[in-house]
Amino acid sequence: MLLLDEISFPFVLILLVIFVTSGCEVERRKSDAELGLNPQQASGRHIYDQYCDRCHEPYSARKRKGPSLQGVFHREYLSVSGMPANDQHAADIIRFGRDKMPGYSQELTQQQIDDLLAYLHTL
Ligand code: HEC
Repeated sequence: MLLLDEISFPFVLILLVIFVTSGCEVERRKSDAELGLNPQQASGRHIYDQYCDRCHEPYSARKRKGPSLQGVFHREYLSVSGMPANDQHAADIIRFGRDKMPGYSQELTQQQIDDLLAYLHTL
């Protein structure tokens, strides 16, 4: 028993190190509550996951097919159009699309776009 413990201890330690370090790279998805989202913002996040997430990174500056949307409303201007970063211009991009981004005027209702914008404000 003692011998086994002496042998297995380094392995357990190595496993622990792998576990802890990999946890830092692959960040766990935070819950809506952890992000402090109200019901409208949480609804917007749900829509974002469905339609936007594959092209836009919400919580890091990395680029996917489209630019990161981290802090999109904290900037003064939208990076792609140079238009002021406000609800009006963001909603236009969502409705009509831009370049390689499709428009969502057929898929999303005004309410859904409002929810989406409420969520984008939290990024
Ligand atoms: C197929 C990939 C794709 C999808 C899906 C997509 N986008 Fe985009 N998005 C882009 C690309 C590419 C651009 C840059 C367009 C340009 O260069 O003119 C962009 C630009 C934007 C911008 C302007 C960002 C800035 O900083 O100027 C916003 C806001 C935006 N998208 C929001 C959304 C939202 C919200 C959704 C989901 C409803 C969405 N996008 C879905 C590809 C996508």
